[in-house]
Amino acid sequence: MKEIVLNTVVRVCSYEELEPADRALVDVAREAARGSYAPYSHFNVGAALLLANGEVVVGSNQENAAYPSGICAERTAIFAAGARYPNVPMMALAIAARNADGEVARPISPCGACRQVMLEAETRHSAVMRIILFGTEGCYVVEGGAKELLPISFGADFLR
Ligand code: THU
Repeated sequence: MKEIVLNTVVRVCSYEELEPADRALVDVAREAARGSYAPYSHFNVGAALLLANGEVVVGSNQENAAYPSGICAERTAIFAAGARYPNVPMMALAIAARNADGEVARPISPCGACRQVMLEAETRHSAVMRIILFGTEGCYVVEGGAKELLPISFGADFLR
């Protein structure tokens, strides 16, 4: 029997140890969390997406009384970028969050639906997005992009 060995590299470091550009993007994500509308979960997430043209597009989670109608911060940012700059690759995505106690200690990780959307953005633009996840007690950096977080994934090639 054959095996597929999955190997995801996640760099772990403190906020202070982040590269300056990553730290700057994280700070935009932390600020973006303030635009969150989360009256149900009280969990405020911010995302900052750096595009190849230098623009930074932000997103935050937007909830709804009909719960599934809400959307995560990551997809808000990616869809906003897709609408505003349809042909510009997405180079890096920083994510930060706060709960009732303040900013989260552990870096939060994008949900499965967001990973799927991140992956398609990478495929669409043939560019891997660096992922920076913020927590007050440590940060994760995934240089290999969404494809590292969603291996053996579904994509458009299966539809052909
Ligand atoms: N949420 C995000 O916006 N991004 C994530 O990576 C995880 C979860 C949102 C969805 C919902 O509004 C709230 O956080 C609680 O799940």
